Amino acid sequence: MTTYITTPIYYVNALPHLGHAYTTIITDTYCRFRRLCGDDVRFQTGTDEHGEKIARAAEAEGVSPREYVDRVSRAFKEAWPQLSVEPDHFIRTTNPEHIRTVQDILQKVYDQDDIYFSEYSGLYCQGCERFLTEKELVEGNCPDHLKPPEEITEQNYFFRMGRYQDWLIDHIKNNPEFITPKRYRNEVLSFLSEPLEDLCISRPTSRLTWGIPLPFDENFVTYVWFDALINYLTGIGYPDGPDFERYWSSSEHVIAKDILKPHAIFWPTMLKAMGVEPYKRLHVHGYWNVDETKMSKSIGNVVRPGELVEQYGVDTVRYFVLREMSFGLDASFSSEAIVARRNSDLANDLGNLFSRSLTMIGKYAGSVVPEPEKGLLNDVDRELIKAVEHMIKQYRQDMNGFLFHRALQEVWKVIGLLNRFIVTNEPWELAKNPAQEKRLMTVLYVLAEALRIVALVLRPVMPQAAAKMAAALGLDAEQDTLTLDTAGKWGGLKPGTRISQGPQLFPRLDKKNNKKQQQQPTPEKKEKKETVREKGLVGYDTFQELELRVAEIVAAEKIKKSDRLLKLTVRAPEERTIVAGIASFYEPDALIGRQVIIVANLKPAKLMGVTSHGMVLAAKEKDDDGNERLVLSTVSDRITPGSKVA
Ligand code: MSP
Repeated sequence: MTTYITTPIYYVNALPHLGHAYTTIITDTYCRFRRLCGDDVRFQTGTDEHGEKIARAAEAEGVSPREYVDRVSRAFKEAWPQLSVEPDHFIRTTNPEHIRTVQDILQKVYDQDDIYFSEYSGLYCQGCERFLTEKELVEGNCPDHLKPPEEITEQNYFFRMGRYQDWLIDHIKNNPEFITPKRYRNEVLSFLSEPLEDLCISRPTSRLTWGIPLPFDENFVTYVWFDALINYLTGIGYPDGPDFERYWSSSEHVIAKDILKPHAIFWPTMLKAMGVEPYKRLHVHGYWNVDETKMSKSIGNVVRPGELVEQYGVDTVRYFVLREMSFGLDASFSSEAIVARRNSDLANDLGNLFSRSLTMIGKYAGSVVPEPEKGLLNDVDRELIKAVEHMIKQYRQDMNGFLFHRALQEVWKVIGLLNRFIVTNEPWELAKNPAQEKRLMTVLYVLAEALRIVALVLRPVMPQAAAKMAAALGLDAEQDTLTLDTAGKWGGLKPGTRISQGPQLFPRLDKKNNKKQQQQPTPEKKEKKETVREKGLVGYDTFQELELRVAEIVAAEKIKKSDRLLKLTVRAPEERTIVAGIASFYEPDALIGRQVIIVANLKPAKLMGVTSHGMVLAAKEKDDDGNERLVLSTVSDRITPGSKVA
């Protein structure tokens, strides 16, 4: 199968920011995923370099448009490798081949009478570079640029877009995957329920010269959208290049909701008029805001991808954006949110699991993947293998549907189960008993094999970390040719493979690592922080280092020779042992099924010979007679064990 996947081509009037980075990262992730499925994939991005906006930006800098677009386009091209984004082709609308093909298309559509000359008065938004309808305005303003559009009367060329309205409605209705998520499909259908006006596709050279001249009238240049959208074709050699034949029928575009109308209405009707079949799927995502506020130069809160990578590392940035945004909805960026994901999901859940497992294979199996004993697989092992197989199925479906956050949730469910698997099997206890040698080797094999599969499915998301994991598991050869079908099957890891410890995948970020963000607080925030420190209180970052979770007690027993201590087995969601000093206040049996709050990232400590992995929180008081009373802390309603308390 082939896949052709594209990002929008970005305007060169601004440098790359988090919004551009997000679209490009998800497109790269999807591209890598399809390659993992065995597809022949082509991934294209690029820059949109004509139009009024660009001409004005160049003028403001006092340079020629050509000089200006060359510089900013280079900044986009150079930004992507820093994010482990590897496009196959970077297109620029100032490429001579692109310009020639746009002119050929205009001529063809003009010759078949789908373009006509007329006078038009309308409300023009400079920011959108298009005429807006009255209905689109919010309190008289363009909803995206928050400015009133200008009333313009002009003679121009028009594309008979209205001619294709019925065809487009039918096409959208007959192809449920044409525009997704559904809300955007519905939005387009609702827009199309009103008569569709023809599209103005020219600008007079008296007003703008920085554009592609119309081949049939030198007094006009092409409207920027009629130029830009065609990049998706010129980039693969339309009309007669072999890559056009090879890839177009499998084309998928990724955009944000801001440019839904040009992609869902202008573009398919243009293709129809040209006699080219429509693209296969359009994937539409929401906006990234910053600290719940719109990202904007004037507010000064624009997030630059290069700075994020420097601060957190490329894999953390990629994981964060994919996990944090539910595809289609808006999301908010904050340094607290990225640090929380890094420390909890990456350092704690994945990183610790990986290094712990490899350390045990090093210690108990001489750093070699051990031979599992088939007959020794018990129900817990079989359940785990089933969960891994289920995850792969779900992951494939979610990644194909652009539900990256869901695919990652599935992977992290398995990571949680693996952490629990270690606690349940206690390999360190098995190691003490020579009769359990074979069981120990089986447990270690199951762990290593599950981690191999976790590394495999994480390749599209975090290419560098996944490669490090594979290398540590002794799998560095032939990694690029693997597919989910071949390598996603249980049992692929060969016993006897030599493993290595490798570096820590995701060291926890402390305040120092996150310094940059703290060095630039608003003056108001800075002042607050200092007052807080003076009073001996802790800051938010210190509080955040504590990982509080809801845990469910599944077993409880008294610890021999202690009046005070109970050994609790809790699910949080992994199963772990916690020793709690509550024996004088609670009967063990009365605790089963209760939900409590635990400190999950407390260093393990041995109490009366039992290792405690965390602490249960409780409130204590003394009455007037000095009698102590203790009540366990809990949540006001039942919730999934493992839920974070913040
Ligand atoms: N040049 C046109 C696109 C032509 S495609 C044939 C354009 N360029 S743009 O530079 O404004 O890029 C818009 C795209 O950048 C959005 O559709 C989205 O992919 C990305 N983003 C820009 N800001 C964004 C957010 N705040 N949040 C998420 N993505 C956003 O429009």
